[in-house]
Amino acid sequence: MKPQTGTGLANGKIILAGEHAVVYHEPAIALPIDAVYVKADIVSAQIGQTIQCELYTGDVNEMPTSMAGLQFAICEAFKRASAKEVTAHTFTLSIESTIPAERGMGSSAAVSVAVVRAIFDFLDATLPEETLWDIVQGAETISHGNPSGIDTATTSGTRPVFFKKEQELQTLHLDMPAYLVIADSGVTGNTKQAVQHVSTLQERIIDPTTQETGSDAVQSIGAIVNETKEAIKEQNPQKLGQLMSENHERLQQLGVSHDVIDTLVDTAHQNNALGAKVTGGGLGGCMIALVETEEAALHLQEQFMKQGAQAVWIQSLAKKENTK
Ligand code: MEV
Repeated sequence: MKPQTGTGLANGKIILAGEHAVVYHEPAIALPIDAVYVKADIVSAQIGQTIQCELYTGDVNEMPTSMAGLQFAICEAFKRASAKEVTAHTFTLSIESTIPAERGMGSSAAVSVAVVRAIFDFLDATLPEETLWDIVQGAETISHGNPSGIDTATTSGTRPVFFKKEQELQTLHLDMPAYLVIADSGVTGNTKQAVQHVSTLQERIIDPTTQETGSDAVQSIGAIVNETKEAIKEQNPQKLGQLMSENHERLQQLGVSHDVIDTLVDTAHQNNALGAKVTGGGLGGCMIALVETEEAALHLQEQFMKQGAQAVWIQSLAKKENTK
C-alpha cells in the first residue's frame, strides 16, 4: 500500500515596527519573508510517532522540555484533525528550516504553522484558520509566556500585516521603491526573557531627564507604528527609515537591543541607510536596515558580512516581490 503523506509550509517574518509594544495592545507591522521558510513532511510508518529535526530526533512523547511548545502543536493537531490522540497514529514527521532559531524571525511560530498544516494534510482534514491560530498560539504561549500573536499571524500568511492584539487582522498594501537588508547578528536572542524584562519596566522611570516610564516608551512606539502605516501608504521611504530609527531608540531605552545589533545599526547609518533597527524580541537576534536601491542593499550586505553578521538577506518592498 502507498504510504500516506502530508506537507506543510510557513514563512519567516520580520517586524517592521512595534515589537514589544504590541504585547501591550499597541499596533505593530510585520512582513512575511520568503527567503527563509520551514517545510514539514509527514509520512505513515509501521510503528511509533517519530520526529526528525535539527534539534532532536526521537519519539514525540519524549521530546525535551525546551520543545514543549512544538510537542503541544503536534499532539493538538492530531487530536483536532482526527478526534484521536497522537498515539493512535503511526508516522515520521521531518522538519527542515532555513529560519535561524531564536533570532526574532518567527522560527518557533513558523515551525508550528508548518507542522500543523502537514498533519491536517496527512489526515486529509480541512484546517480552518481559527484552528491553526488556536494551536499555534497555544504552542507559542508554552514557548514564550505572553505572545501577542503577531508571529502566528505573520508566519501563517503571505501578506504584510498591521496587527493589534484581539482586533481583526488588517493586511497592508506595501509597494515602495526600497529594500530591506536583514542581518542575523549571530547572537541568540531570547524573546521570553526580553518580554519579561520589558514588563518589569512598565511603571519604572527609564529616562531620568524626561521622567518617562517604560509604559510611556511603549505608547511612543504605538505612535511610531501609526506613522509607519502612513509612510507605507504614502510610499515614502525617507519617512519610513526615520521612523525605523526612532523605533530603534525606543527599543534601546527598553533594554532589548544588544551591542552587536547597535554596531550593525551604526554601520547601516555610516553607509547612508535611510533607517535601521533591531527586529523581533531582541537581546541579540536580527536587525533591519532600509535603503533605496538594490545596489545600496548589496553594498550594505557586504558591509554587514564584514562586520561579522552570520547571514544577510535582502527583501524588496516593491509590490510584486513582497506579496503573492
Ligand atoms: C516577537 O517576535 C515580538 C514580541 O513583540 C513578542 C510578541 O509580540 O509576542 C517581542
